[in-house]
Amino acid sequence: MSEFSAGTHENGAPRESDAHSLSLGANGPLMLHDVALVEKLARFDRERIPERSPHAKGSGAFGEFEVTEDVSAYTKAAFLQPGAKTRLMARFSTVAGELGSPDTWRDVRGFALKFYTDEGNFDMVGNNTPIFFVRDPMKFPDFIHSQKRTPDSGLRSGNMQWDFWTLSPESAHQVSYLMGPRGLPRSWREMNGYSSHTYMWVNEAGEKFWVVWHFLSDQGVHNMSNEEAAELAGTDGDFHRRDLFDAIEREEFPSWRVEVQIMPYEEAKNYRFNPFDLTKTWSKKDYPRIPVGRFTLNENPVNHFAQIEQAAFSPSNTVPGTGVSPDKMLLARVFSYPDAQRNRLGTNFNQLPVNMPAIPTNSYDKEGAMQFHHSGNAPVYAPNSYGRSYADTQGPVDNGWESDGTLVRAAYTLHAEDDDFGQAHTLVREVYTEEERQGLVETVVGSLTDVEEPVLSRVFEYWTKIDAEVGAAIEAAYRAGLEEQVPGLDPVEQTA
Ligand code: HEM
Repeated sequence: MSEFSAGTHENGAPRESDAHSLSLGANGPLMLHDVALVEKLARFDRERIPERSPHAKGSGAFGEFEVTEDVSAYTKAAFLQPGAKTRLMARFSTVAGELGSPDTWRDVRGFALKFYTDEGNFDMVGNNTPIFFVRDPMKFPDFIHSQKRTPDSGLRSGNMQWDFWTLSPESAHQVSYLMGPRGLPRSWREMNGYSSHTYMWVNEAGEKFWVVWHFLSDQGVHNMSNEEAAELAGTDGDFHRRDLFDAIEREEFPSWRVEVQIMPYEEAKNYRFNPFDLTKTWSKKDYPRIPVGRFTLNENPVNHFAQIEQAAFSPSNTVPGTGVSPDKMLLARVFSYPDAQRNRLGTNFNQLPVNMPAIPTNSYDKEGAMQFHHSGNAPVYAPNSYGRSYADTQGPVDNGWESDGTLVRAAYTLHAEDDDFGQAHTLVREVYTEEERQGLVETVVGSLTDVEEPVLSRVFEYWTKIDAEVGAAIEAAYRAGLEEQVPGLDPVEQTA
């Protein structure tokens, strides 16, 4: 510890004691003017800030992204040009658990990246799954509520989770993913990441493309069993956080290949699946993955709170040559993240070092709690007569799209092969091995302990629609488990 200097008060003056408060005589009452004690307690009383509403538990590291291929035909973004190297930070997380929850609970994992590019920050706030549970943002808070805790007991509830999922059939694909092997990654280093959403790229000539990002682990994809995960949840709740930190300390730097699927702009209209529906993937046969580069994490945080807890990622952080898409979920996220961060971290959260772009900003934003950076006495309004330039580009934006129609509340119009269960079936039947399907059946049955009617019957129907054989196996295994507990008792009576 010798490299650290002696403690001071917050005004910089030396501290007299870290061990003894100021009292009137050795046994006497304490003094309100004991700045050392008052400052220490007051700061302690204010240490906690709100945790992220979803994705509270996580950690991350810093590193570098290098473009090794040439994708300039699809995007003019400077950080995606051949040979470009960009500093980045990554944060991995679970979704439903609180700040102190175990890393190994079965859950989707967040995969958030912030690229500090020469044209401003570009964030890719993805998951370790290429799809999601719902396709309309109106349902997102309800989905998260169903994964968190019940209002009365404050407990998590399988009944609540399955109630929401079975009443939201569009969740089938993501639930099949979550209940399968990849619902329990061995470590953050050994999982892939996905943008999940479709985004836009624009090239120098102004041509537009739809793009889905893939981050493929150089460490390979490895998962753990329910038993291992349950044991670790009890013995080392920070297993994933520790694994990443320790690997980087040992200089075993994890890396991911960055690849993209590219869809020509015009093909979106008639593609067999709605390419903006977040519950669907694009076939790799139709749109093969194109390599872009690689990122490596080689630098641990030195202060978890300042660099990880206060990090603010958002899909609204785009740079020239990139953009969003008509995916309704993505459009809502563009609003929701900075809004959450203004609440969680304060109005000037972008001025925190971890969130600051690598290039100077020049906005008319002023004041708000904790403003550190400012432009002196430069005009804070536009237009102005004093040389602070303002922008007024008019006409179509280069990363926009066409749309028409009246204002409605409606589901997406269906493309030829759109339905809720088709891609879930393909995943369960064609991608999973027999052993993995068996594991999925056990996992689902294990999650039904507190599920009651009418939800229980709907769970069997839901899985039967995904895959008749798997649905029957789940129901049979569930009934066999009950028969073992109370021979002869009908499951409906047991759960009523
Ligand atoms: C975190 C909202 C869908 C990935 C968050 C946060 C909010 C939020 C409010 C906390 C932000 C903060 O306090 O810093 C939403 C809404 C969604 C949505 C409204 C849909 C309408 C998704 C999807 C993905 C995703 C589809 C992945 C493809 C993440 C990740 C984090 C996060 C990775 C944690 C970021 C970090 O590490 O700081 N979300 N989310 N979310 N979300 Fe979402």
